[in-house]
Amino acid sequence: MKNIIVLGAQWGDEGKGKVVDIYSEFADTVARSTGGNNAGHTLVVRGEKFIFHLIPSGILHAGKKCVIANGVVVDPKVLLAEIDKLKSRNYLKDDSQLKVGHLAHIILPYHIALDRAREEKLGSRKIGTTARGIGPCYEDKIARIGIRACDLAEPDTFSEMLRANLELKNFLLKHYYGAEEIDFPSTRDEYLSYGERIRPYLIDTSLFLNEEINRGAKVLFEGAQGTLLDIDHGTYPFVTSSNTTAGGLCTGSGVAPTKIGGVIGVAKAYITRVGAGPFPTELFGDEGQQIRDRGCEYGSTTGRPRRCGWFDVPVVRYADRLNALTGIALTKLDVLSGLPRLHVCVAYEIDGVRREDVPLILSEFERAVPVYEQMEGWKEDLSDAREFGDLPKAAQKYVRRLEELTGVEASLVSVGADRNQTIIRKNPFRA
Ligand code: GDP
Ligand code: IMO
Ligand code: MG
Repeated sequence: MKNIIVLGAQWGDEGKGKVVDIYSEFADTVARSTGGNNAGHTLVVRGEKFIFHLIPSGILHAGKKCVIANGVVVDPKVLLAEIDKLKSRNYLKDDSQLKVGHLAHIILPYHIALDRAREEKLGSRKIGTTARGIGPCYEDKIARIGIRACDLAEPDTFSEMLRANLELKNFLLKHYYGAEEIDFPSTRDEYLSYGERIRPYLIDTSLFLNEEINRGAKVLFEGAQGTLLDIDHGTYPFVTSSNTTAGGLCTGSGVAPTKIGGVIGVAKAYITRVGAGPFPTELFGDEGQQIRDRGCEYGSTTGRPRRCGWFDVPVVRYADRLNALTGIALTKLDVLSGLPRLHVCVAYEIDGVRREDVPLILSEFERAVPVYEQMEGWKEDLSDAREFGDLPKAAQKYVRRLEELTGVEASLVSVGADRNQTIIRKNPFRA
């Protein structure tokens, strides 16, 4: 089967953008179908950096179709800025390269205002969202009051829906949160102009993707966020508001699970998290700071410092359970160079009892003490390695041990941010 999902196996920011860019070369079409511009996917091509929040990370490959499917929540302002930036850098010369799902829900200013106001009210109990309006937009979708791309493209429909929504949202903003209200006429005019610009990209993306698949094209599905941020299976409430796992990508794209041939889980050679929530292997001292500095662990979307910790095997095994991984793309191995001893969390101890699985009862996860296996580090710079055999023996041993412990093979190993700093051990479309 020729269609592959690439998704995050940890808490997001695993390097999905880089991996999707690399695999795009083997694919015909690349699709995002989950999350919104809470995602920040970074690509570095010959030293030039690109960050995508909504547009699929295959867009730099001319001729590959890129799809933002119905399951994505689209902030039109962000999408248009991304389109403009790409064009100014001489990409996306042909607008038919990009397709946007006509049923995708639209993020409006009141979603962003509510996201911010709610976090502020939560104070020390806040989730640490990206403040992009993601949660409130998905809430409206489920409540069946959301405004979709096809509605935005119809001035009368949009005005009516916006007016009805603002009645409720402004009441909440003003009277519950004590925040500023959103102005109807200026919002309507601003968003209608976005609707006009987005209209040419709108299509039935489920139809398009299924037709592509039926004609034998290879589709690459790009996940957003990470498995542990999944609304149903993650560290609730410290999660995002959508399904980040493999099933979510199928639902969001309107492509059935039987059409998927493989799922690659992207995992860092250590682990990071932004925002609040349990994180058993978190490092607070010098080692954590060393990883943060060497790995440039600052959010691509919000610039927040990422919390850093040792590789957590139960987390990735859990990602394997939920997504049936056919391979791991292990990223940022180069960042660990120079650390004398590496720690790998193989299990947890909770109230004196050893647990091999992720305890999803929040209070248990918060009390989980990692059980570590120690491994020898290496001093060498890995960034020029292009074959597995180029890696120092200790780094090879580390990767093999992670494969053994997680039960999933590392089909790609990444040793630097640039596209070419990669060891491709298997082409997932051919496996
Ligand atoms: P995503 O959200 O999963 O796409 O990941 P992000 O782009 O938010 O964060 C990953 C960061 O690590 C980006 O800055 C990438 O350029 C960078 N990166 C990806 N792979 C590697 C790698 O193997 N080594 C190093 N040093 N950086 C990497
Ligand atoms: P990519 O695709 C890392 C986190 C936020 C917060 C929680 C909820 O780049 O890996 P939200 O704004 O979604 O309501 O925030 O989820 N989060 C991410 N963390 N990478 C992401 O995306 C994330 N998207 C959301 O930090 O803890
Ligand atoms: Mg990111």
